[in-house]
Amino acid sequence: MAYRDLRDFLALLEQRNQLKHVHAPVRVDRGHSELDALMRLLQDDKGPAVIMDNLQGYNTPGIPLVFNPYGTRERTAWIVGKDNWLDAKLRVAEVLGDRTCWKKPVVVDRAQSTCKDVVIKGDDISLDRDLPAVWYGKEGPSYMCNAITVSKDPDTGERNVGCYRYTQFFNASHPMGAAYTEEQIKRRLAGFVWWNPPMNHIGLHFNKAVKQGKTLPIALAAMVDPVVQLASATGLPYGVDEYEFAGGLRGEPVELVKCETNDLEVPAHAEWVIEGELVPGEPAIIGPHGNPGGYYDKMLWLPEMRVNCITRRKDAMWYTTQEMIPPFDHVYMALLPVEAEVLSDLKKKIPEVKDVACSPNLSFVVQLSVDGANKPHAEFGKYILHAVWGAAGRWGRTAKMVVVVGPDVDPYDWNSIEWAIMTRVQPYSDTIINRSAQAYLLDPSPVKSEQGIPVMGEQIGIDATIKVPERFKDYPEAANADPAVVRLLRERLKACLD
Ligand SMILES: Cc1cc2nc3c(=O)[nH]c(=O)nc-3n(C[C@H](O)[C@H](O)[C@H](O)COP(=O)(O)O)c2cc1C
Repeated sequence: MAYRDLRDFLALLEQRNQLKHVHAPVRVDRGHSELDALMRLLQDDKGPAVIMDNLQGYNTPGIPLVFNPYGTRERTAWIVGKDNWLDAKLRVAEVLGDRTCWKKPVVVDRAQSTCKDVVIKGDDISLDRDLPAVWYGKEGPSYMCNAITVSKDPDTGERNVGCYRYTQFFNASHPMGAAYTEEQIKRRLAGFVWWNPPMNHIGLHFNKAVKQGKTLPIALAAMVDPVVQLASATGLPYGVDEYEFAGGLRGEPVELVKCETNDLEVPAHAEWVIEGELVPGEPAIIGPHGNPGGYYDKMLWLPEMRVNCITRRKDAMWYTTQEMIPPFDHVYMALLPVEAEVLSDLKKKIPEVKDVACSPNLSFVVQLSVDGANKPHAEFGKYILHAVWGAAGRWGRTAKMVVVVGPDVDPYDWNSIEWAIMTRVQPYSDTIINRSAQAYLLDPSPVKSEQGIPVMGEQIGIDATIKVPERFKDYPEAANADPAVVRLLRERLKACLD
């Protein structure tokens, strides 16, 4: 059954004892916030989601904070109604590969939506008062990482729905010691829109708008049905509608409602909608900002969004999440579509691909269903490495490290992967170094381009399959216990060992 909104998903977490209400005080203000420590604590302990209502140093005290809802692979699998990660990924990969099951969204009447109880327009907007602001670690600005963004190609009118971050200017420190203006604090956000060169689809839209000297109308919908957020974080081909893909994942069309101030459509049951436009001109300078690679970006140049309207539920909550040394809450929300994208693409052409696992640090591991003499041809592992780098979607081409393993290696367990590397790989013969790859945007190790972002990078591929028949006639048998016997023994000896 589909979730109507994020609240449905939170109700499921509560029912499964994975959501706690925290009434104890927690500080959230710049320089003193305890939220990064809370994220580390909950991640280290594989802890629950929490809703906090006693926040200190907070600009919107009546609005509770939702934290860590997707904090484990298991909870993230529940987004698509599956109880384990692999089933969830196979489901996403299956729907990705079969557009006949996608469903066009439907537009419902304003009265049927829940996101317009409160409407604030134009000069009445004051983001410092109207939008929750919380901080993490040494961050200069407060930022939001809970929304999908809707925009249209300025030439064709084709829609894009993507998941991108925004920063606020309220109470933010400027990385060069300057002050943000009243207009920025009250009416503007800065978006992680890579448009020069374009590195995401909204970047392509904005790039076109800038060349035409126009603003780009956009709408942010925060805290939507998590399936819709997952779809927005999936790298569909340019011009393909993420709402339709989300409909396929839900098994029911996504319900949309028209925006108040532009012709975009947003999920009718979002907790918040922020309407506005990306404005050409001088970008905002913000920083430091913690990124998903686990480093602070000292300074970023980001286009500004002018906010023209905010609508929300009257009893709205606010979901906040952070990027730091992985893992962190929403890394799993990002990994599920990444793994599914690459798996769906590889499975279509290479039936021997069993699974693609991506670690929170973005190492890709491809598990094959065959190894050694059962491989379809010699050097099959190297063919797989090239296939990952050539896979559809945004992530395969920027995969910095790819490892290919056989069926006896657990692609989620780095002890198992390391064992395969140490016992099946010769570093010169079984690796590929690609010196002209597209860099992962948030990797601080490649040289940066004029635009301050890494564009060119290098890649390593490790073929950790068994080199039979190409190098050996046979290979030593692995010495290990039978997993089925281990399972049975665990049950039998439970009382004595627990
Ligand atoms: C919570 C979250 C935040 C994200 N933030 C960004 C971001 O700020 N910029 C970006 O380019 N991609 C970001 N991503 C990844 C994109 O959502 C993903 O690559 C998606 O496919 C982009 O859509 P597009 O292909 O239509 O551009 C984020 C993903 C998640 C799950």
